[in-house]
Amino acid sequence: MAQAVRIGIAGLGTVGQGVVSIIQQHSALLAARHAPIEIAAVSMRDRSKARKVSLEGIRIEDDALALADASDVDIVLELIGGEDGIARQLVERSIAQGKHVVTANKALIAHHGDALVAHAETQGVVLAFEAAVAGGIPILSTLRHGTCANQISRISGILNGTCNFILTTMEQEGRDFDDVLNEAEALGYLEADPALDIDGIDTAHKVAILAALAFGTRLDYAGVDCEGIRNVTLRDMHYAAEFGYRIKLLGMASFDGRYLHQSVRPTLVPLSAPLAGVSGAFNAVQLHGDAVGDVTLEGRGAGAGPTASAVLADVMAIARGERPQPFGMAVGALIQADRSAGALQKSAYYLRLNVRDEPGVLAEITRIFANEHISVRAITQHEIMPDNTVQVVVSTHHTDDTSMRAAMSALSALPVNANPPICLGISEGE
Ligand SMILES: NC(=O)c1ccc[n+]([C@@H]2O[C@H](COP(=O)([O-])OP(=O)(O)OC[C@H]3O[C@@H](n4cnc5c(N)ncnc54)[C@H](OP(=O)(O)O)[C@@H]3O)[C@@H](O)[C@H]2O)c1
Repeated sequence: MAQAVRIGIAGLGTVGQGVVSIIQQHSALLAARHAPIEIAAVSMRDRSKARKVSLEGIRIEDDALALADASDVDIVLELIGGEDGIARQLVERSIAQGKHVVTANKALIAHHGDALVAHAETQGVVLAFEAAVAGGIPILSTLRHGTCANQISRISGILNGTCNFILTTMEQEGRDFDDVLNEAEALGYLEADPALDIDGIDTAHKVAILAALAFGTRLDYAGVDCEGIRNVTLRDMHYAAEFGYRIKLLGMASFDGRYLHQSVRPTLVPLSAPLAGVSGAFNAVQLHGDAVGDVTLEGRGAGAGPTASAVLADVMAIARGERPQPFGMAVGALIQADRSAGALQKSAYYLRLNVRDEPGVLAEITRIFANEHISVRAITQHEIMPDNTVQVVVSTHHTDDTSMRAAMSALSALPVNANPPICLGISEGE
């Protein structure tokens, strides 16, 4: 049997305890598949806190950085979180000390992944982060191995289980956003800072990582155009369903060899498309490769088991002697893409206006679209509401982002608005 692999685990929350639990349950299986995994030491913030796993016989370090210096640790697992602070210090110090690092920390990788991987390369160690994107779905290893012979032009997905749970529950149970948000909080689905989930930031971190790996471009988290789900209403869900669509928070990246477009936004997805059927806390990723065509992977995107499963996949790969390049190529070979300008980004759009029921309103709305050369596919005025306003729903043919922003700005300035207009993208591909 191969020599035992000794790990040090920093962070014993949801993911850290999930890792300990799998190692304890599957010790024989892991040993048979390569080598025994030994937990040499762990570190947490508050050692008096009750844990769901036994730590008997395991050394506890009060200072997580001690794991980076420990001579009996081969691989450091950073499962604390946060783009800076102790998590970043630990990863940097572990690499500097010649230790392999496995992390589930998408914020850290999205912000500092290039520099950290470059540091790991010079030290001859691995920095692995399969668990950082879509939890239990092995999308990063699929991009590195399964589809590595393809030119990938587009990757998109449902990458935040909490947002997908909220949208699915709103639609299925006819409940509004705030109501379901409270339930998600009570179920412990939300990050400590809920904005990371519902404002799309967590999805944006994952989009940036996926884009780098899929296209071989440098990480550009700041270039992700990001909008979350706070403004999605039941009313829009009903109207979308009438058109044959369902609203999903989609993370999307595309690359044409020069321009990189990355976005996170609530999007109308056709009911017949694979991503429309992904419900609850599930995640799915769809990529398009020139040789393979469309590939869709679906599974649990978060939680102790799925995330720990991905962490241990990285640990086992390192234990087997694999030295994967995290971005599928040397970090110095990643190319600097240009950010896609709005005039190059085309999409169909769904708009909803809530306006006072006055003569000439529809003519005024259509005039704004005509001024911006936007071709309207359908425009429907719904029944008069008790407050004497009407809902006007518009769908457009493909138009560019710059024209749509100009139209939205003009529509928002209309004096007849009872509420600000809503604008969502319509996807035909997923
Ligand atoms: N939860 C998921 O489903 C999921 C999915 C994918 C990726 N991730 C990522 O995985 C990482 C961990 O997430 P989590 O959900 O497990 O977080 P969590 O439940 O909040 O756990 C964080 C852990 O870090 C420990 N910690 C905080 N400060 C520390 C310090 N200075 N030194 C040592 N330990 C410290 C905490 O200790 P105490 O317990 O003593 O407070 C806690 O055990 C994050 O990067 C997250 O984005 C999570």
